[in-house]
Amino acid sequence: METSDYFKRALRDLRISVTDRCNFRCRYCMPEEVFGKDYPFLPRESVLSVDETVRIARIFARLGVRKMRITGGEPILRKELPEIIRGIAAIEGVQDIALTTNGSLLAKQAAKLREEGLMRVAVSLDALDDETFMAMNGGKASVRQVLEGIDAAADAGLAVKVNMVVQKGVNEHALLPMVRYFREKGHILRMIEYMDVGNTNGWDLKHVVSKKEMLERIGAEFPLEPAAPNYAGEVASRYRFADGKGEIGIISSVSDAFCQSCTRGRLSADGMFYTCLFATKGHDLRTLLRSDVSDETIAKEIGSIWEGRHDRYSLERDEARQKRDGAKVEMSRIGG
Ligand code: GTP
Ligand code: 5AD
Ligand code: SF4
Ligand code: SF4
Repeated sequence: METSDYFKRALRDLRISVTDRCNFRCRYCMPEEVFGKDYPFLPRESVLSVDETVRIARIFARLGVRKMRITGGEPILRKELPEIIRGIAAIEGVQDIALTTNGSLLAKQAAKLREEGLMRVAVSLDALDDETFMAMNGGKASVRQVLEGIDAAADAGLAVKVNMVVQKGVNEHALLPMVRYFREKGHILRMIEYMDVGNTNGWDLKHVVSKKEMLERIGAEFPLEPAAPNYAGEVASRYRFADGKGEIGIISSVSDAFCQSCTRGRLSADGMFYTCLFATKGHDLRTLLRSDVSDETIAKEIGSIWEGRHDRYSLERDEARQKRDGAKVEMSRIGG
């Protein structure tokens, strides 16, 4: 039972947030002055249980989802993460399970998560110097902690990618040091254009370093060649180092949108289904999960939500921004 949306895009990937909490306070995602002690994080009873999470993932797999990505907040903060991964790994049809993490707690958990069936991690890291990195993450962790997490993940046999959000005037000086370091380490570094996700980061086009600019700067030291996508609809554009020593990726949601091939759905920790990273509202699947309806009925409901999907925010950013001001889902709810 497969489904496709108004623009004929299938539902192939599900990004499952398992907590809206995070131990970092990145300025572009959860600034401390907004996400402080009194911030209304989801109460425990609203968060899907392990069984509910695995059940809904199984229903999505029946609808054609092949790739599952666990996100947060910071997913490693969720105590039952190993059980969630074990459950999802056992679902028929799931070909890929990845985790997006800030890496600070990875050193202790990597081997366990690998044992439970995790295949890959995407670790976020925005600079290699503590001054820049800590200013960006709210002073919550050092570069060394994250690098240790990355090493532990690689040692445990997990495939590793590193995601760097590039902000003009904030961490652009870290671009080349990051490229040099991860090229030597043999991990794929992906640079993300700073985006207007959520409602709190005060985004402005002036703060974006475009894909073109990044390619010029990196290419001046390391000649690059474009490479074909690994799969249809891959988010990052790939570039190989001309000397054959690895590759980088650029995620250009601002200057070169990729909505045409967007096959991604997102589930928040409280079971709301979002059909776009920039959605203003989710569809409540938790109530269905907690009533006595069958998997079949829930699958039909998800199918009809997806069929009605028109989202292509990044392609329409200029007009769409005005309409959604103050009303977008927060990044920490749906994990990017
Ligand atoms: P692979 O599975 O390795 O290809 O990774 P991925 O690109 O699917 O996942 P990842 O979580 O590493 O994505 C990196 C970042 O790209 C996210 O954190 C977002 O910032 C951005 N991104 C991912 N998907 C979308 C999307 O559908 N729309 C937009 N605008 N940005 C996205
Ligand atoms: N723009 C681009 N990427 C962002 N991320 C968080 N907020 C933004 C933003 N405003 C990234 C994180 C992490 C992933 C979950 O999303 O750095 O790599
Ligand atoms: Fe930073 Fe990720 Fe935490 Fe947001 S969820 S504050 S981007 S570490
Ligand atoms: Fe998909 Fe929305 Fe991102 Fe476009 S902006 S690629 S529709 S999630």
